[in-house]
Amino acid sequence: MSTASPNLQAYRASLLHFRADPAFDDQAALWHEDGLLVVEDGRIKAAGDYAALAPTLPPGLEQVDYRGKVIAPGFIDTHLHYPQTDMIASPSPGLLPWLETYTFPSERRFEDPAHARATAEFFLDELLRCGTTTAVVYCTVHPQSVDAFFEASEARKLRMVAGKVLMDRNCPDFLRDLEGDLGQSEDLINKWHKRGRSLYAITPRFAPTSTDVQLRLTGELAARHPDTFIQTHVSENKDECTWVNELFPQARSYLDVYERFGLMRPRALFGHCIWLDDEDFARMAATGSAAAVCPTSNLFLGSGLFDFERADSARALLSLGTDVGAGTSFSMLQTMNEAYKVARLKGSYLPALRMFYLATLGAARSMRLEDTIGSFQPGLEADFVVLDREATPLLARRTGHCDSLEELLFALALLGDDRTIAATYSGGRKVHQR
Ligand code: GUN
Ligand code: ZN
Repeated sequence: MSTASPNLQAYRASLLHFRADPAFDDQAALWHEDGLLVVEDGRIKAAGDYAALAPTLPPGLEQVDYRGKVIAPGFIDTHLHYPQTDMIASPSPGLLPWLETYTFPSERRFEDPAHARATAEFFLDELLRCGTTTAVVYCTVHPQSVDAFFEASEARKLRMVAGKVLMDRNCPDFLRDLEGDLGQSEDLINKWHKRGRSLYAITPRFAPTSTDVQLRLTGELAARHPDTFIQTHVSENKDECTWVNELFPQARSYLDVYERFGLMRPRALFGHCIWLDDEDFARMAATGSAAAVCPTSNLFLGSGLFDFERADSARALLSLGTDVGAGTSFSMLQTMNEAYKVARLKGSYLPALRMFYLATLGAARSMRLEDTIGSFQPGLEADFVVLDREATPLLARRTGHCDSLEELLFALALLGDDRTIAATYSGGRKVHQR
């Protein structure tokens, strides 16, 4: 008879995770070519070489054999919009017309809880198919859109971050908050933040759609709930930057608008950050705020190219976001692919190791969740992805002759997508199988 605990599982595969940022530490990556990942009660028990760990397993424990595949921490997508799922790939010449033509009408439908719940279910299926186990998600201005999202993610026991969009000007009446009232956001924090694996993000959409009063109250709300997240957009598009300069002439920069209202702090995630200057990046680093870099969206809308070198000179916290529905893919592998090209066009270079770091531990650090998710340190939640290097004929052909780990990861990032995800696990449970 087996003596193994029913809550103990072991997975044999190549293992990849990180203990530091490979841009600044050449011992950052942890790689076990023939590795074993041991999971107990939904948490990481051990990760290491098969030869060292296999003898520690209780006799009779059946191992899951993923030999030939790569297990990595589940991807973390730090910026996307679930209500924009149905309008992904909608053509428009730039951000502001895209918001007017497609985004606001699509978001209006989320006053209907049934539509919100059905969309949330599809959205979560899609994330898991792409190997994303944690996402930082915009809902709409409707509180019921937040309830629908968290009800769906809680039912699947996923580690998700989300919040109600705040907007009280420069938007259609049907999406406008009452000025001076953040009661709905505070109620949602009290209801959802840290309930199970749900975490709340205070979500002013972007500076142009909030009055000074709303931004001030948002900063006060964030100060009352210092372990919530804050998410917003900044310096995405040149027309938008000009508009913000007109609306907030007293601010030094677009980012400075947020700092003046107390919205730069640890757990604040700023989408895009394309047109930030050196002082802005220094403020990002000094305040512990993090950039969510969204390359597929930036290329799609023609917003601009993120400057990785400038951000790295300031040592700003970085992560990657798909920004669906301006982003054109739910896949973090495809997001890496485009991030690589953005870096090249800016004259810099983004190694694959760095991209996998940004999509895992880098994101967890940006979110101050590195003691919960993002690597295979013992005790962390067992959220992981099984990557199939032979998912397509072309991937199999290319990865059949890799001379280094960097080459293998590069091929997975450049050629991979949802087909590359053989399985996704959350809290030690299989939540997707291709
Ligand atoms: N800026 C304000 N709202 C949005 C949005 O929904 N998507 C993007 N990409 N930028 C924004
Ligand atoms: Zn966005």
